Amino acid sequence: MAVERTISIIKPDAVAKNVIGQIYARFEGAGLKIVAARMTQLSQKTAEEFYGIHRERPFFKDLVSFMISGPVMIQVLEGDNAITKNRDLMGATDPKKAAPGTIRADFADSIDANAVHGSDGPDTAKHEIGFFFPGMDVLSR
Ligand code: CMP
Repeated sequence: MAVERTISIIKPDAVAKNVIGQIYARFEGAGLKIVAARMTQLSQKTAEEFYGIHRERPFFKDLVSFMISGPVMIQVLEGDNAITKNRDLMGATDPKKAAPGTIRADFADSIDANAVHGSDGPDTAKHEIGFFFPGMDVLSR
């Protein structure tokens, strides 16, 4: 299995619920290591740029306002198959459709306030790691 790195964001709803530790425990329990982390409140410009791929989608404005509504915790996760593993831990984008036991099923309230973001593939992971942690390697080896 390939060792990968991926971006995870704990969104303002989950930070406000004080469940950063519970979410970190899920990453660690699945064998993912937190190799970089930063808590920050995103500016409108940064959120718009980060979610630029969704600029034309009807939910873009609401997504950006939600993402800047409070602090977020951004981390790089590392481990075997980290990208897919993190997405499996997160569950479906819409918490109503997320499988029981996933982060979104347990902590999310709506498709916007859906607790976490995770890179959806190797190219996105590379882009998102560089976006939030400039100069950081995509792979550890
Ligand atoms: P995230 O993984 O952060 O990527 C884009 C976000 O847009 C997504 O999680 C959701 O929070 C939000 N979003 C809101 N409406 C939709 C939708 N209809 N389809 C996909 N994502 C949506």
